[in-house]
Amino acid sequence: MDTDELLTDDVGRAVACLRAGGLVGMPTETVYGLAADASDPGAVARIYAVKGRPTGHPLIVHAADTDMLDGWVRPGPAEAAFAELARTCWPGPLTVLVGRGPKVPDAVTGGRPTVGVRVPAHPVATALMTGFGAPVAAPSANRFGKVSPTTAAHVLADLGPWLDPARDVVLDGGRASVGVESTIVDLTVDPPQLLRAGAIDAVTIGRLLDVPVAGAAGPSRAAGMLVAHYAPRTEVLLAETPGEARQLVADRSAGGRRVRLLDRTDDLVVAAHELYADLRAADADGLDTLVVVLPPAEGLGHALRDRLLKAAAGSGPAAS
Ligand code: TXA
Ligand code: MG
Repeated sequence: MDTDELLTDDVGRAVACLRAGGLVGMPTETVYGLAADASDPGAVARIYAVKGRPTGHPLIVHAADTDMLDGWVRPGPAEAAFAELARTCWPGPLTVLVGRGPKVPDAVTGGRPTVGVRVPAHPVATALMTGFGAPVAAPSANRFGKVSPTTAAHVLADLGPWLDPARDVVLDGGRASVGVESTIVDLTVDPPQLLRAGAIDAVTIGRLLDVPVAGAAGPSRAAGMLVAHYAPRTEVLLAETPGEARQLVADRSAGGRRVRLLDRTDDLVVAAHELYADLRAADADGLDTLVVVLPPAEGLGHALRDRLLKAAAGSGPAAS
C-alpha cells in the first residue's frame, strides 16, 4: 500500500476524518499523537487496534483550550490546582490527571475514575480541534512499546500499514519542537505526584502549586507504563560519563560490530528534540549497539534519563 496517500497538510480533511469516526495522526509540540473523537467509543477502539496497545491503558484527552474540557473533568478538591496549572502551563507539554467528567466514555480511560487531559501548544493541533469543536483522545502515534514519533514520516513508517487511506489521515505539522512526551502530574492525590517526567519538571510544578511535588522516582508510573518502552531494535547501553561510554564502545566494537556513541549532554533541549530521531537512526543505520551518555538528573535531564532507561531495558533484537 502507498502510505503517502495518508499524508496531508489539509486540516479540513482531517476534521472530516474525525467527524466520520476516522483516525488522525496529529502533530503536537511533544510527539505526534493518534487522535480520534474522544466521545466515540468505536473510533477510540480503533486507536488501540492500530497501535497494538492493550485495551485498558488509558488515553489522554486533548483539547484546543481549557473551556473545551467542560464536562470532561471533575477536579473536585483539586479545582484550584487544576485551574492554576491550566492557566500557567497550557497550551503546553503538561498532562493533568483529575477526576473524570460525565462526557468521558469508558473506552478512553479503561473504566478508571480519572482522566488525563492536555491542551497542546501546536498551531495545527489547535486548528484541528477547534475545527472539530470537541476534544480528541490520543496516545503517541507509535506501535505499542516502540519509539514515539516526532515527524509525520515516523508516523507513516510505524502505523501506515495499519491505517486506512479511505478513513484516516496523517496531518503533517513539521517536526515536534520538544521531542519527549508531556509531563504527567496526578492531582487526584495529595500532595500531587509526578507520574511521568517531561519538559516541565517537578520543581516548576511544585512552585506553581506552592507544595512540594515528588519527582517520578525511578521509571514513570502512569497506568500502562512499563519498564521497557520507547525501545529500538538496536541494543542501547547507557553510561554515566563520557569515559565510561568510550570504554563500552571499545568493548562492544570487537569483531566488527557497528557501535555508535551518542553524547548530547552539552544541550538537553537539543538532546530531547533529537532523542527519538537518534534512536530511529540507530535502527535505520543497522547499528548493533548505541552507547548513550546519560544527562544529569535535573530539569529536562529527568525526562531524558527516564526514556533512555526504558529504551535500554527493551532494546535489542529480542525486543523487536
Ligand atoms: O505528550 C504526550 O503526552 C503525547 C502527545 C500525543 O500528547 N501523548 C502520549 O500519550 O504520550 P501516551 O498514551 O503514549 O502516554 C500517556 C500515558 C500512558 O502511559 C497512559 O497509560 C497514561 O499516560 N495515562 C493516561 N490517562 C491516564 C489515567 N487516567 N490514569 C493513569 N494513567 C493515565
Ligand atoms: Mg506512548
